[in-house]
Amino acid sequence: MIFKQLFDQETWTYTYLIADPVSKDAVLIDPVNTHIDEYVKMLDEQGLHLKYSLETHVHADHITASGHLRQRLGAQTGVSQLCGAETADIQIQDGDIFEFADGEQIKTIATPGHTRGSLSFLWRDRVFTGDSLMIGGCGRTDFQGGDAGAQYDSITQRLFTLPEDTLVYPGHDYQQHWVSTIRQERTTNPRLAGKSREEFIDIMKHLNLPKPRLIEEAVPANRRCGLEANERQDTVAVRETARPVRHEISPQDMVAEAKQHISEVNVATAKQLLAEGNIVVVDVREESEYANGHIDNALPVPRGVLEFKIGNIPELADKSKTVLAYCRTGGRSALAAQTMQQLGYKNVLSMAGGFEAWQKEYNRKS
Ligand SMILES: [Fe+2]
Repeated sequence: MIFKQLFDQETWTYTYLIADPVSKDAVLIDPVNTHIDEYVKMLDEQGLHLKYSLETHVHADHITASGHLRQRLGAQTGVSQLCGAETADIQIQDGDIFEFADGEQIKTIATPGHTRGSLSFLWRDRVFTGDSLMIGGCGRTDFQGGDAGAQYDSITQRLFTLPEDTLVYPGHDYQQHWVSTIRQERTTNPRLAGKSREEFIDIMKHLNLPKPRLIEEAVPANRRCGLEANERQDTVAVRETARPVRHEISPQDMVAEAKQHISEVNVATAKQLLAEGNIVVVDVREESEYANGHIDNALPVPRGVLEFKIGNIPELADKSKTVLAYCRTGGRSALAAQTMQQLGYKNVLSMAGGFEAWQKEYNRKS
């Protein structure tokens, strides 16, 4: 799969591209109107067909590209049914699943609070949280039907209940963070970690933030999918709008699916391979887990930044070399091994049972 995290420097907004190089289906989440030509070029270069352009919410700080992407590429636009964006092709509801490529699914999780219609999207082991949950923060709740109590409930009951290793990709970041995990946010996010609902509401009440510069312009424009009031809303004469389907895919399913495509070795085999040498060991856990103990000479490459960092690691320049990936229990490393295979690595192994099994077997901390 193709996955890209794109950044708009003007508004600190992240846009995400998910695409399948085989079927050529592509999905954009939160595209920004000043980058339309770049998106079209990027999709064109890879022969991709934009199936969906989805919004996590009606933004107040930038204008969406979705209406123009619909006009130029025939993409279907999707916004929460609670956002008042009647011109969107799909009025998204909680639980809606967008299917694309061969069996890929993006599941909608309603996370109201920042706005009434705020949504998060779960794809594989990644959740795109918009302004509901950010890295070390969260979106403000003082306009557009915002509600701090609802925000707390959405984050703690819907997002923090996802598997701990789920990667969190926010709608904005102001400190050059790219990605986090549910565990990291649950345990370190200063607005949420250890905070009661009342404490959170009190924090949100006293943020004293200035009004967004573009709000008067952006909100009405985004309700029209970013088009001018007098612009035609569609370009394709007869448009077939598919309803998203509703069913569930669990994170356990994702790991099980990944394991069908990768090779696993047990701890004893891993140990033997290490003794024989000529193998690169990659620890895909978070840095804090690595710091608490790891296999000797393992390279710390957290799963969340693997695609971004891998090209800069000299030991991984030769894609034909055998790589052993491990995590805590073997789930994340299965997903990482699959990602590395897709990036062209020929011999990637995932260690079943992970570092916990390793420690149990050898009863020591490396
Ligand atoms: Fe927002």
